[in-house]
Amino acid sequence: MNEVREVVIELLGQLGSSREARQYIDRFSQVEESRFAVVKVGGAVLRDSLEPLATALAFLHRLGLHPVVLHGAGPQLDEAMAERGMEMEKLSGLRVTTEDVMAVARPVIHRANLGLVEALERKGVKARSLVHGVFRASLADRERLGLVGRVEGVDPEGLQSTIGAGAMPVVACLGESPSGQAMNINADEAARELVLALGPYKVIFLTSTGGLLDPNGRVLSAITLEEDYDELMAQPWVHSGMRLKLEEIRNLLEELPSDASVSITSAENLTRELFTHTGAGTLVRRGERILEHPAVTPKLRRPLEVLLEASFQRTLRTGWLEGRRVRSLLMADSGRAAALVVEGTGGAGYLDKFAVTPEAQGEGLANALWQALNSRFPKLYWRSQVANPVTSWYFRRADTSFKRNGWVVFTRGIQGIEEVNRVVNDALERDSGWTELESGE
Ligand code: ARG
Repeated sequence: MNEVREVVIELLGQLGSSREARQYIDRFSQVEESRFAVVKVGGAVLRDSLEPLATALAFLHRLGLHPVVLHGAGPQLDEAMAERGMEMEKLSGLRVTTEDVMAVARPVIHRANLGLVEALERKGVKARSLVHGVFRASLADRERLGLVGRVEGVDPEGLQSTIGAGAMPVVACLGESPSGQAMNINADEAARELVLALGPYKVIFLTSTGGLLDPNGRVLSAITLEEDYDELMAQPWVHSGMRLKLEEIRNLLEELPSDASVSITSAENLTRELFTHTGAGTLVRRGERILEHPAVTPKLRRPLEVLLEASFQRTLRTGWLEGRRVRSLLMADSGRAAALVVEGTGGAGYLDKFAVTPEAQGEGLANALWQALNSRFPKLYWRSQVANPVTSWYFRRADTSFKRNGWVVFTRGIQGIEEVNRVVNDALERDSGWTELESGE
């Protein structure tokens, strides 16, 4: 096992850094075996990306990580029904499942399930098909919906014994009554119930789009519910499907421990999403509070110094922090992100330090901190070295920018050319507090 791990870590190193990968492997291995992840695979992914899906899951298996895989088969069933000239009927998002529909659905779902199990086995992964015995169900509305089941409970024994045997459970969205009547379970409901029953560390939705999309069709990298939810829900471009998804994810995360997270990604990007800080897909977390402190108290000093020195890879001069005329320290609960604002010229704030650990950047904490900073300091200026990778991020957040002697000075909310000139000069003269010299000093 250890040898395999080493090879795998090396491989992962090619995606990001192997230190990064190791950190996630350790973290995912620390939670109880059956609580690593629930992976919900859409029917379309099963149909169109079976190979990459099996490859990504096999990879997890080799690391000793056993996700519970749940899949739908919607598109497959649509096709099978169309072939037979059957009309598809939906009522408030649920597929009306007459006896005739069920007669078509069951074999289609079984086939989809076996398709994945076999693809896994071809890769040497022990996998077990669980098409019944997981969801206890009752009829939701026999008259109108037919054999659509509402989940009454989840029996985790089958899942746990599968994982205990070192195999990967592949669960279908079928449930049954106590007497064995099979029922069709909506895939989103099945996913929710499974997650609530297992309490996984990661909830993963594999989709064809590979994440939630912004208005330009690009994948949104990270969403922090605490900071972003209300704003997102108010956006006109957030269409009803995405709205539902966000609501559903919020409801899930509210029931899970605060360090749990949801990733929406594709089969092709799953490995990168799981084992790098930046990921590949959309990561949704509850987020953490960003607290404002009017001063750097002795209790805050050490955590702040540790964060700053690690982020900038430099050493602060002793006593530098104590000498600042601090207006505000904004710091995330975990101590992984902080913004230090000191007294600037003309009543504006000078953003002296802004630091977010790489891991927290992947979680979207930099944006969250920036938003907090924005609402608290309408007039702000700061500087950054031209060569610093964060500089391009700042360009998108500033009204004005001036390049001088290896520095870029940024301003936001500062009116009038004279005032802007004044703060730019002030910024360039500041002492950054590092023991090492920088350009411009
Ligand atoms: N690898 C980490 C995780 O799975 C972070 C992923 C970050 N992903 C993102 N889309 N920003 O939890």
